[in-house]
Amino acid sequence: MDEIMRRRSTRRFQERGVEPEKTERLLRAAMQSPTGRNAQDWEFLVITDEQTRQAVSHMSEYAMCAKNAPQLVAVLANLERAVQGYPLWSCDMGAVCQTILLQAEHDGLGAVWLAAWPHEGRVQYMRELFNLPEHIVPYAVIAMGYKLSEKPSEDRYDAGKVHWERY
Ligand SMILES: Cc1cc2nc3c(=O)[nH]c(=O)nc-3n(C[C@H](O)[C@H](O)[C@H](O)COP(=O)(O)O)c2cc1C
Repeated sequence: MDEIMRRRSTRRFQERGVEPEKTERLLRAAMQSPTGRNAQDWEFLVITDEQTRQAVSHMSEYAMCAKNAPQLVAVLANLERAVQGYPLWSCDMGAVCQTILLQAEHDGLGAVWLAAWPHEGRVQYMRELFNLPEHIVPYAVIAMGYKLSEKPSEDRYDAGKVHWERY
């Protein structure tokens, strides 16, 4: 898939919003992701409101670009649906985030993963901002929109990181 090789994080966006069909495709792709024991323990919060995006941009010093992205999708873990006893859900959410980034790239959008979990302060901030119940963990925010400019792709293949048969 070209998208895997082409994808880079986008932090500068045009003002143009994301079409509802693209947003739906993105969410459909997200919900096709693998999850441990097929828990499908995800929920999504789509944010376009300018004031709310501004508030999300204060989640961390690394989230400032959220205010300039026309759309944010917060990826939430529902711990009531998650496998109990160990944090397998965090692996599920990582897979979801990557799916969203790739679908965005496929549809001509740029996106960036803004981490909330496992930073307690960021999780708490998002919890309070959206009045999330205890069993909902704000995992990450994917900021997205049309790219202001293209970044060159990077070939990161490193044969030295690959071990064959034994370490
Ligand atoms: C778990 C994770 C957390 C990240 N958190 C942030 C973040 O908070 N803010 C940000 O601007 N980028 C964040 N990124 C994006 C990375 O900085 C980016 O993927 C990395 O520098 C590689 O660049 P590329 O995405 O352009 O290939 C995160 C990426 C991952 C996978």
